[in-house]
Amino acid sequence: MKRLIALLAAVSLIAAATYAISGSIVGTPHDFSGGYGGTDLGSDQICVYCHTPHNPVKAVPLWNRINQSHYVFEFYKTSATLTTATKASGFNSGSVSLFCMNCHDGQTALGSIKNPGVDSNNNTIVMDTSTVIRSTYGDILTTDLTNSHPVGFNYASAASQDATLAAKATVESKLKTANVGGVIFFNDDANNTGDMMECASCHKVHDNEYTKFLRISNVGSNLCFACHIK
Ligand code: HEC
Ligand code: HEC
Ligand code: HEC
Ligand code: HEC
Repeated sequence: MKRLIALLAAVSLIAAATYAISGSIVGTPHDFSGGYGGTDLGSDQICVYCHTPHNPVKAVPLWNRINQSHYVFEFYKTSATLTTATKASGFNSGSVSLFCMNCHDGQTALGSIKNPGVDSNNNTIVMDTSTVIRSTYGDILTTDLTNSHPVGFNYASAASQDATLAAKATVESKLKTANVGGVIFFNDDANNTGDMMECASCHKVHDNEYTKFLRISNVGSNLCFACHIK
């Protein structure tokens, strides 16, 4: 019996370690398979609320949400201490942050997707197209991003103009933890290849290990120090 308990403890330790290495979207606030705030949104799948395997609205990243560039956004760029690179903030049709704003604008219904797919009877799934994100936790940012951390600019250019910003490669090494890997700065449709600072530079949409979908823990402002030399 003792041995069994020890074995179970070891197994659960391994399970806990595995979880720490790779967080999952399952059960996070981005998992709508069980509905949202008590409303069934239509599909009991998870990825479908953002991605589709075929015929997407936007090829990268196989994006399934409609109205992606529907709204005009305002940005944090009046601050006198910003670099000219940051003051040039804006979104074009390839801006990764638009993917977030397609729900966090507070206007687009969570179930507004292009390809809902079919149910087990081969009937097209009917999506709820009225429920929007609720404001309770400050999760609605609106289209006015003048009071949010700057996004939608070329990080490499900003860093070349401001000595208190860490070099792009340094930031990448600090934010690419074992459970994220991948990309910290993004492409857009204006030939900014791999340099754009977006919502997903700080957040990882599929993994809520550190809460608020943060890339790394922000204890001691760890996240902020990845870029800001202060
Ligand atoms: C709430 C919206 C949302 C949901 C739900 C979602 N994704 Fe994503 N996904 C995104 C966004 C936004 C990006 C692009 C930003 C990025 O790469 O961080 C992305 C990028 C990706 C990528 C390419 C980059 C990477 O991180 O590897 C893959 C693969 C991916 N998603 C797979 C999935 C799968 C599989 C599911 C379901 C288990 C899923 N996603 C659910 C929003 C979502
Ligand atoms: C399909 C719609 C959708 C998309 C796309 C989406 N989100 Fe969310 N997000 C939500 C909803 C709904 C919640 C939960 C709000 C609530 O708790 O009522 C949420 C919650 C969050 C939270 C708070 C999590 C917490 O622990 O409280 C963060 C941070 C967040 N999202 C960031 C992002 C970022 C960054 C992107 C893009 C990379 C993104 N989201 C894309 C719908 C979306
Ligand atoms: C510079 C890093 C950074 C960027 C860029 C950033 N966020 Fe956040 N975000 C954070 C941190 C840190 C928190 C946690 C704040 C807290 O705990 O109060 C947060 C919290 C949130 C929340 C939860 C609500 C709240 O106020 O706590 C949402 C939703 C969110 N971010 C969405 C976004 C979206 C969408 C974008 C792009 C427009 C974005 N974030 C860009 C760092 C960032
Ligand atoms: C991925 C890199 C990155 C991370 C992480 C990050 N920032 Fe920033 N932040 C920037 C860049 C780049 C600017 C634009 C600076 C410029 O143009 O001079 C900026 C601008 C700012 C500004 C406005 C400065 C001004 O001149 O008005 C503040 C304040 C700020 N960040 C605070 C934070 C805080 C607090 C955190 C942690 C929650 C954080 N940042 C995390 C990259 C980052």
